[in-house]
Amino acid sequence: MTISSSQSDRAGHAVSSLEGADSLFARLGLDRDARVSLTQRQGPQWAMTENPSTGQPLAWVRLDEAADFERQASEAVASFKAWRTVPAPSRGLVVRAIGDAFRRHKADLGELISLEVGKIRSEGQGEIQEIVDIADFAVGLSRQLPGLTLPSERAGHRLIEQWLPLGVVGVISAFNFPAAVWAWNACLAAVSGDVTIWKPSLLAPLTAIACNRIADEVATSMGHPGVFRLVIGTDQEVGERMIADRRLPLISATGSCRMGRRVGQVVAQRLGRSLLELGGNNACIVHEDADLDLALASTVFGAVGTAGQRCTTTRRLFVHEKVAPAFIARLVKAYRSLSTRIGDPRDEATLIGPLINAQAVKQFEHAVSAARQQGGRVLVGGGRATTNALGHFVEPTLIVAPDAPGSALPIADEETFAPILYVFTYRSLDDAIERQNAVDQGLSSSIFTESMRVSERFLSPAGNGSDCGIANVNCGTSGAEIGGAFGGEKDTGGGRESGSDSWKAYMRRQTCTINFSGKLELAQGIRFE
Ligand code: UN1
Repeated sequence: MTISSSQSDRAGHAVSSLEGADSLFARLGLDRDARVSLTQRQGPQWAMTENPSTGQPLAWVRLDEAADFERQASEAVASFKAWRTVPAPSRGLVVRAIGDAFRRHKADLGELISLEVGKIRSEGQGEIQEIVDIADFAVGLSRQLPGLTLPSERAGHRLIEQWLPLGVVGVISAFNFPAAVWAWNACLAAVSGDVTIWKPSLLAPLTAIACNRIADEVATSMGHPGVFRLVIGTDQEVGERMIADRRLPLISATGSCRMGRRVGQVVAQRLGRSLLELGGNNACIVHEDADLDLALASTVFGAVGTAGQRCTTTRRLFVHEKVAPAFIARLVKAYRSLSTRIGDPRDEATLIGPLINAQAVKQFEHAVSAARQQGGRVLVGGGRATTNALGHFVEPTLIVAPDAPGSALPIADEETFAPILYVFTYRSLDDAIERQNAVDQGLSSSIFTESMRVSERFLSPAGNGSDCGIANVNCGTSGAEIGGAFGGEKDTGGGRESGSDSWKAYMRRQTCTINFSGKLELAQGIRFE
């Protein structure tokens, strides 16, 4: 299978030789963006963004420096002062128009995501659909943002809560969801009356430029410039400044646990707010009474979808010993059949695109070799895919843990951003749940069962079931809808983004007591006369 007809040379014109990429760039305004160069640029001010399917440059992007961030931050404060006075339903109208613009650009942006981070066509477009969905959600919310009225203990008093705009929100996003996670934050922030400064991953700057451009152009055309801002820079030059900046009351960051620890500490130091969505090490439990067809299809998508590069990817599988031999045999067959479906993410037949870069391939190889050393048996995969010598393709990999008590396969406790599924067997449900919970991360989990008792045990109100932020029944670990709150516990960081009442993170709560009695009456029965 050929990945693309690109014959580009790292030293020359990059993108123009990719099939159709130049017109795609033009449709998304990337060719006229001052930050983007289609010819090679050198020096610390420029970052190259690569197509992971070909290992070839897509473009060079000019990086922001400390002074650029400083300018953005001070302008953002001014933009916030104007934006917060716009009534929330009018802010919603702006987000509605932004959602419509993303509807129109869905195919192009999906393709850009395929080019820049290697997602298959359907998943690239699915990511833009998440933007459309969260925009719709935010529009509805713009007529709600509800505060409570609470009974006052004092006669002639009213006790209420109101939610107010918070300020300038810093959004740090990862390469694997280079557009949707920004939109979860930016759309909720916008209807809340906040201004967003987005620092995207340096592995996906073109997607960020294209998306932010759309939001900014729509908002500006409706009379609200500066609500959606972008800074593209290194952690050292921009990231560290952003997280330490007191003008940004909220930092919402997606990425590794290591990055989240740094962000959490620096933001806490200045008593700011952080919203962290960090690593996952998600497990799926297949119980003896599961619908095995459903469990199989769900596990395969969960484990190999997005080439194993979702925070919600299924990384560990616990199969009941009664069904394990049959189920594992079916998994092996399914994995083997995938070998012909690895390749160009823009090809309709492809199910597995590349990893993001050469380093990710090394990490994949390291995990496979560690698993082997620890007694894991590689049933399928384990190596680079031969699809294309320069692209970062690996084989979907199935590894069975040794039949030993306790932590039989320590490498499985780590999150490796690659399509590796570690398989364990279990005898008792309690044991499976305990082992599922016995890792540092707590993002997503799922169980396959036809039994109400088993599923309720997994979701038990006592809290002794799954310890994750997401717990699904007969539905895999990945691919959450935007309507629910998204995030996880423990080292996953505790933040919640997207649906439900996640919007509260982007606003400040004010408790108001209004005395209409004409008399002073103190709470708690205090007398002061
Ligand atoms: C992520 O990987 O950071 O639930 C987000 C999912 C997607 C979002 C993943 N809707 O898999």
